[in-house]
Amino acid sequence: MKNRFWRIERRPEGTDFSSALALVEAPLAPLGAGEIRIRNSHLSMDAGTRMWLTAREDGYQPPLPVGGPMTGLVLGEVIESRAEGFVPGDLVRAFGQWADISTLDAAGSGAIVLDPSVSDRRAWLGPLGMNGWTALWGVAHTGAAKPGEKVLVSAAAGATGMLAVQIARLLGCEAWGIAGGAAKCAYLTETLRIAGAVDYKAGDVAAQLDAAGGFDVYFDNVGGALLDEVLTRMNHYGRIAVCGLLADYAGGGRTSPRAFDQVLMRRLRVEGFFSPDFMHEGPALTRRLREWSEAGELVMPYDMTYGLENTLTAYAKLFTGANIGKVIVELES
Ligand SMILES: NC(=O)c1ccc[n+]([C@@H]2O[C@H](COP(=O)([O-])OP(=O)(O)OC[C@H]3O[C@@H](n4cnc5c(N)ncnc54)[C@H](OP(=O)(O)O)[C@@H]3O)[C@@H](O)[C@H]2O)c1
Repeated sequence: MKNRFWRIERRPEGTDFSSALALVEAPLAPLGAGEIRIRNSHLSMDAGTRMWLTAREDGYQPPLPVGGPMTGLVLGEVIESRAEGFVPGDLVRAFGQWADISTLDAAGSGAIVLDPSVSDRRAWLGPLGMNGWTALWGVAHTGAAKPGEKVLVSAAAGATGMLAVQIARLLGCEAWGIAGGAAKCAYLTETLRIAGAVDYKAGDVAAQLDAAGGFDVYFDNVGGALLDEVLTRMNHYGRIAVCGLLADYAGGGRTSPRAFDQVLMRRLRVEGFFSPDFMHEGPALTRRLREWSEAGELVMPYDMTYGLENTLTAYAKLFTGANIGKVIVELES
């Protein structure tokens, strides 16, 4: 059987993904011991994967090799299994390939058999997925947000940030978001009913942040110049939960805050966190997220693209800001 997959031909420049990745076809190799094969129904578009496409060796994981398949979170049914605990027909989420069919080592890929009774399976890539786990962990654990505290989240209209602001609100905090553009800010304040939004593309970010007042927790998805603006507006003993560094992913730069002195002046705690480190907490995190989701308290709009051949258009949205909510590619069944 032949399989279509996206192959990394070279390292991308900026958001020019079509020069860097090619949709190719190759026969499937026989399944090895411990491996499973999934017919992908949905591909999760995740901004953090942009860093894996760079050559940097000092990231939290090695770069994806040029010549190999593009890797990311996928959702689909098992069609063949040589791994214990997985049988054909199981609905599974795993780190697989941007392909019609993913072949993966069940243990090494974080493959999890999912409850098929969840009415919209896309939730397994959104509120009940890595974005949900990351948002809950970052707000409640790394950020240690307490009721009544003021929590600010960057990239707040994207998948991870949107869950983080809602979770902060559900935990009794005053939630604020930073996002690009009036439509995104209106979505945050009017639809998600958070306390306020800062439009970082609208000009005077410093004045907008000043009007909002000091923050106890900053859930940072961006780094870069925005981090400097926020450092000088943190309350004493505040926490900065470093989730992502979007400002640096495409250009390969490195966030170097000029206002780092504020960590001492305001006695801040700055801590990075990374979802594979708390995979073992997944079932407990999922239970809590599922309760909120099923009660309609945690919402997620999906930005859908259809067809494997259109994957790169969907992926670019994460870096141009064209999305509100979770970007997903749905494949033909
Ligand atoms: N630590 C972890 O374990 C972990 C796990 C999952 C995700 N993450 C991080 O979470 C962040 C969001 O990822 P996601 O997959 O959920 O994507 P997303 O938020 O759905 O999409 C990315 C959004 O970020 C904003 N953005 C892009 N470039 C930006 C820039 N240079 N400056 C400011 N904002 C920018 C855009 O919105 P605007 O229109 O507002 O610019 C865009 O819509 C990433 O940093 C990712 O690495 C971390």
